[in-house]
Amino acid sequence: MKKENYKAPSIELIQISTIGKHSILNMDTSSVFEEVEDVEKLLIEYGSPLFLLSENKLREKYKLFKEAFTEEGIETIIGYSYKTNYLPALCSILKEEGAWAEVVADMEYKLARSLNVPGSEIIFNGCYKTEAELNKAVSEGALINIDSFDELELLDKVAGSLGKKARTGIRVNFIMGNISWTKFGFSHETGESKEILERISKKKNINFEAIHNHSGTFNVDPKMYSKSTRIIIELAEYAKKIGLNTKIIDIGGGFPSSNKLKPQYDIPGGSKYNENTLKQFSSAVMYYLKKAKHLFNNGKPILMLEPGRAIVDESMQLISKVVSKKKNANGGYSVVMDAGVNILPTAYWYNFEPKLANKMNGSANDLNEKNKTNGKNYNEFVKMYGPLCMQIDSINDAVSLPSVEVGDTIVFSNVGAYNITQSMQFIQTRPAVLLLGPNGKEVIRKKETWSDIFTLDIIPKRLGKSNGRY
Ligand SMILES: Cc1ncc(COP(=O)(O)O)c(C=O)c1O
Repeated sequence: MKKENYKAPSIELIQISTIGKHSILNMDTSSVFEEVEDVEKLLIEYGSPLFLLSENKLREKYKLFKEAFTEEGIETIIGYSYKTNYLPALCSILKEEGAWAEVVADMEYKLARSLNVPGSEIIFNGCYKTEAELNKAVSEGALINIDSFDELELLDKVAGSLGKKARTGIRVNFIMGNISWTKFGFSHETGESKEILERISKKKNINFEAIHNHSGTFNVDPKMYSKSTRIIIELAEYAKKIGLNTKIIDIGGGFPSSNKLKPQYDIPGGSKYNENTLKQFSSAVMYYLKKAKHLFNNGKPILMLEPGRAIVDESMQLISKVVSKKKNANGGYSVVMDAGVNILPTAYWYNFEPKLANKMNGSANDLNEKNKTNGKNYNEFVKMYGPLCMQIDSINDAVSLPSVEVGDTIVFSNVGAYNITQSMQFIQTRPAVLLLGPNGKEVIRKKETWSDIFTLDIIPKRLGKSNGRY
């Protein structure tokens, strides 16, 4: 065995200014958006937890998505799916990039109009649209993807009473695996997808334009989009035979982001996301569409896409603090954070990989540990809980992190999709959202206060309040 030469021990002076409440011993700045200079200062100013939106990242993701689905001879339209994240500032940035609005309810429709999205650039989806909502959508020239035979009758009546033709698409569904989204639209297997075309061909007040399919969310297999495209092409062929001209092929959203699904929701072995992923999905569609151009819009197909998470997930981060630490009965330790599933509901589906962004309140022991491993952080597996009084408020069962202590700052990346919109006003108020853009930091949603939560409540006078308002 080769012997190592003897090295004399040496004592190295470690420079620490003060180890106090705000001393920073270890900072992994690479984990926070590059626009952030001092994450601790942000939390002091805007409170913890805190959502960050990077304008640069959002614009970049939008452009990459559009580019991946751009082909000569095909017009590509992106209808950003509002339900994924309807922060008005975020929707405004995407509108500036050229996105249309894909909405599924009056609330989203009104938001899009309030941001000056023209009615003609709204795609109105969903399985429940009221007569009043249809009335507005027809008047303003929105594209309405109908979901049922009942909706066709209502739409025809509404358009007739307005003396207008309704711009109409049909949503179709097909079976693909055991979690197929057969709740929405017309079943292809039962023949309803053809029957709706036949019925439309007899309606005076319907202007048929689109065939639409959205088959799920976080679809990891491009084959699903090949199948969707082939079915839409088959239906466009049938539509042509019965005298209907299909202008638009709308393949919905559902494209994955770089988040990691929990194994029970993923394919065996785990799906892989990289810079070619979107191109694979695009090729799955284009391969068939390019051969069937003649069936759409007199040879100039309009390809409509309704991405949500693929555009916005990576544009947001959630910054949060460790508030307590305890030993687990079966080994290791847990930490309680000030952010939980109330504002990070996607933690039910994803294995987030939170990173230590800032180490506070360090002890000499931390430094010793750090030194022992040659300046590198040593990792432990930590159970991470949120602040709710429910055992199921668990963010991750085994996060690999350096020794974390109360006061440390943790960053969750890729949180832009379905967290803001599905967050709960439960036990905790919701955090502020900060936009990092060309003007530096701008608050785009204020931190909620307790009175925001009770603003709509009324106490009957007889129960003691003089003005009846709470
Ligand atoms: C009709 C429709 N389009 C688009 C989307 C966006 O999906 P994703 O965020 O998975 O891209 C959804 C989400 O469920 C949807 O229902």
